Amino acid sequence: MTRLAITINGRALAPTEVRDDLTMNDFLREHLGMTGTKFGCGAAQCLSCAVIIDNPDGTSYTSPTCVVSAISFDGKAIRTVEGHAKNGELTALQKAFIEHFAFQCGYCTAGFLNEAQVLLERLARKPVARDELEKTIAEALDGHICRCTGYVKYHEAVRDVVLADPKRYLA
Ligand code: FES
Ligand code: FES
Repeated sequence: MTRLAITINGRALAPTEVRDDLTMNDFLREHLGMTGTKFGCGAAQCLSCAVIIDNPDGTSYTSPTCVVSAISFDGKAIRTVEGHAKNGELTALQKAFIEHFAFQCGYCTAGFLNEAQVLLERLARKPVARDELEKTIAEALDGHICRCTGYVKYHEAVRDVVLADPKRYLA
């Protein structure tokens, strides 16, 4: 057993003892009941289980949780799908996913949402030219598998959010 201290969606959890072989996915879903983070392939291949990890310098990245131990997240701040909407209000990205009918079963959606959110925040720090946008979105979402094949709609949804606020996201 090892002590785990972690901040999730802005809330620091009381340090807790967890088994060394407990995955982060099981910690979220089974220990905390946060089932928005999905378990798909269980082999770091589909990224349906991805969460956001926030660096102290304000940058962020995503990580799978299915094959990663909970204790490796000790001291980290993460965001999950449950942390996006504020006071019941969906983010522009979440609304765009719905407006585009980007998902069907929704199993991949939390992973896509987290990845796209990381991309938006990166673009806000470092905008790209309009003619680089399609490639930038495609590269960011690459690696996320959707068995219901919503790839194009996810891409279009992210593009809509960027184009709705070009001063923020585009150079
Ligand atoms: S469930 Fe983690 S990558 Fe597929
Ligand atoms: S919406 Fe079903 S796997 Fe993507």
